[in-house]
Amino acid sequence: RYTRPLLIPQVMPLARGLGAGNAGRDAYEIAVRQIEQRLLPPELGLPPTTVWSYGSVHHPETFAYPAFTIEATYRRPVRVKWINDLRDPATGRFLPHLLPVDPTLHWANPPGGAQGRDSRPAFPGDCPPGPYRGPVPIVTHLHGMARMGQESDGYPEAWYLPAATDIPEGYAATGTFYDYYQRTSPLGDLWEPGAAVFQYPNDQRATTLWYHDHTLGITRLNVYAGPAGFYLLRGGPDDLPQGVLPGPAPRPGDRPGARVYEIPLLIQDRSFNDDGSLFYPASRGLAPELADVYIPKGDIPPIWVPEFFGDVIVVNGRPWPYLEVEQRRYRFRILNGSASRFLILKMDNGLPLWQIGSDGGFLPSPVERGTLLLAPAERADVIVDFSGVRAGAELVLLNLGPDAPFTGGPQTAADPATTGQVMQFRVVPATGADASTPPHRIELPRLAPLGDAALVRQVSLNDLSSALRPDAGLSVAALGTLEPPPRSRAARPLFWHDPITENPALGSTEVWEIYNFTVDAHPIHVHEVHFAIVDRQPFDGAPRPPEAGEEGRKDTVVALPFEITRIKMVFESPGRFVWHCHILEHEDNEMMRPYQIGSTPD
Ligand code: C2O
Ligand code: CU
Repeated sequence: RYTRPLLIPQVMPLARGLGAGNAGRDAYEIAVRQIEQRLLPPELGLPPTTVWSYGSVHHPETFAYPAFTIEATYRRPVRVKWINDLRDPATGRFLPHLLPVDPTLHWANPPGGAQGRDSRPAFPGDCPPGPYRGPVPIVTHLHGMARMGQESDGYPEAWYLPAATDIPEGYAATGTFYDYYQRTSPLGDLWEPGAAVFQYPNDQRATTLWYHDHTLGITRLNVYAGPAGFYLLRGGPDDLPQGVLPGPAPRPGDRPGARVYEIPLLIQDRSFNDDGSLFYPASRGLAPELADVYIPKGDIPPIWVPEFFGDVIVVNGRPWPYLEVEQRRYRFRILNGSASRFLILKMDNGLPLWQIGSDGGFLPSPVERGTLLLAPAERADVIVDFSGVRAGAELVLLNLGPDAPFTGGPQTAADPATTGQVMQFRVVPATGADASTPPHRIELPRLAPLGDAALVRQVSLNDLSSALRPDAGLSVAALGTLEPPPRSRAARPLFWHDPITENPALGSTEVWEIYNFTVDAHPIHVHEVHFAIVDRQPFDGAPRPPEAGEEGRKDTVVALPFEITRIKMVFESPGRFVWHCHILEHEDNEMMRPYQIGSTPD
């Protein structure tokens, strides 16, 4: 640990073109490619690791994991051509997945062809045994973007294969919603095989967003392979604090080593094989007496695992890096990009983390935090003041979260020798004066409260056992609605393919009461909106207000077991979006539901 410096993602370069009249708008042409990158320390003598990432097609050097950061400006739209380029550059043939794809889940399923695509196999036994080795579907979601057309949201069934030379006969090259959105999108003319063009209005509160894959049933694998990057939206009335925040952030064309004091930190867990390649479990390790249950007889996905916890903490693509910090203040945009791991961050010397923002932009006021809980997909905007720390000190950012599903109750913290540590800060003297305002003196912009809710909706989080082998204790996760009356606790679990049940009217304000009937916490993400957390209430207790750091707007909320979590939001733009658990293994196995704002399309 702590042998190599933190990598700071550079800024994604702009592209020209993408339709007429580009003035007033930023354009990008971003592909997903397979690359080799040295994630592990060279002294291990291992070859570089094969990963996937995004990069600008006009600048081959931008293909790096994590992806370069997109810098966006309030009310200046960003148009991106997202290209699935998982092809061999020499032959144009498709590249198979780096990780074992479970074909028995309800997933994108290109071999299902025109009829069977986006469908759950009638029975897992209908799948050829073993992982799927065909071309890989991709569709990108910008997590945290609101007020956008449905065709730009990266709907899980709007996936597309690379434009490879060897797509097998009978395969679907696109998901059903790709075709529908290409037809209905104002930018549909710009879409082409292996690509889609999305546009983001940036007409919302400035905040830390991130972009990542969202393909039905294989998001966990696609994201684990690498494709993820920051998208920082700046400007507008909600980005005007009274006081000076630490900066600058990396700028386009910065030379390596440029001094930056605003730094994004993407924290993830990974595991590696002995040859340095990425490890992700290839089976649930079923007991021998169960191993024959899943194919051809069972309904238990054989390869999918319910959660994944890697034994290496990776920050911005490097295991346990160090960062040299001057005796001054820094602003960190922290994102938990892990699949299942909840982080509880803490500085080993007790230095406070001053939280100024979360998923949905600035908090109403800075909050001094000793520890910081970050569930998968949550973000925290944090100021750390190293000015009082002596030069030469080496501080470690610890993780006190568990190496196991988070319950919110007493749990064993992560292994202090490995996953209990995140990164190191090496304090050096300041190179100049620090013009930034001490965090407790910063005044953050006022946050207008949301109006009264027209409707209160009950939804539920459920855990289902195998119908064929209830004794096996193997379950899938599912979202659902509650049967009325609301407090009956009789949930009706619903699957991805079930008809829409959440259909808020355009422009309406709703409260969703999320009943968690499972034993674990789930980070629930609602696309297209930023919500306020109203309260949380144990099934048998009194409601309590949001936690510290939750008083701003959010797009992902921790729903604790046997509690009702209430969120309030306004549905401002019409179309079909999704809400789901952001434990990616859960999302991939039915813990995701479509929802519809406004009238339901034909
Ligand atoms: Cu970060 Cu629906 O995802
Ligand atoms: Cu979950």
